[in-house]
Amino acid sequence: MNFPQELKRLVPVKLRVIRSNAIHALRRDSAYYEHEGRREFFQKAFRGLQFNGIPGDYAEFGCCGAMTFRLAYAAARQCAHSARLWAFDSFQGLPPQAGQADSHPMWVEGDMSMSLKDFRSVCASVGMKESDYTAVAGFYGDTLEPAGLSTPNRPDRLALVYIDCDLYSSTVQVLQFLAPRLRHGMVVAFDDYFCTSADAVSGERLAMLEFLDGQTDFAFLPYLPIGWHGMSFIVENRRLLNRAAHGEKV
Ligand SMILES: C[S@@+](CC[C@H](N)C(=O)[O-])C[C@H]1O[C@@H](n2cnc3c(N)ncnc32)[C@H](O)[C@@H]1O
Repeated sequence: MNFPQELKRLVPVKLRVIRSNAIHALRRDSAYYEHEGRREFFQKAFRGLQFNGIPGDYAEFGCCGAMTFRLAYAAARQCAHSARLWAFDSFQGLPPQAGQADSHPMWVEGDMSMSLKDFRSVCASVGMKESDYTAVAGFYGDTLEPAGLSTPNRPDRLALVYIDCDLYSSTVQVLQFLAPRLRHGMVVAFDDYFCTSADAVSGERLAMLEFLDGQTDFAFLPYLPIGWHGMSFIVENRRLLNRAAHGEKV
């Protein structure tokens, strides 16, 4: 069949429009489900912490956009959990990849950046007061001391930790900061636990595997998944675990 010249010209354009609408709709749907997965996680996690009587602060590592920060705030308030919030971010986007273990097509230096001023106005737009949270601006190499509880103006009693800094090297720094702050019953969550490289174990998962290898005092009980991409754990004191398993003999 012979299409008139005009129709021939129009069909590909129309197809292109349909295709681009479909891609747009797919992206919108995935963004919606990813948001919902996180919202569900925060509601369940804060409900569990409240139910089990585990007080303490909420610390988020990787906060640009303030999406998860706002979800955490809303869930804590909804569950009547008194967590104070901490936001740790460079507010300049991702640092450069530091090696193979950071390698991922989505983690590009300088991406995902939001100024501290914009972060504060997004938080204010949902009714958060500056007294509800502390924002610690800077790269983790400068803002998180490698060990100990010595730096003033840092949280020392945490109930929920949300690690969303994508890179292996950043997650290693966060886990070093967390090590002396681990407590029985707290929740540690990784937004990108299942975002790994095609040909190697990398990213947040690798950082966690290495961290677990050196952990003698605490175990991590798999808890709630976060959408398709993240995973959370409940921290358990090994001494209490052994006592539960073997009675008072330990
Ligand atoms: C995926 S974004 C966080 C998204 C945020 N949780 C949300 O829901 O809107 C990752 C963030 O991690 C931060 N980040 C990664 N590595 C960092 C480092 N070493 N020091 C400070 N911030 C870092 C980046 O600045 C970026 O804002």
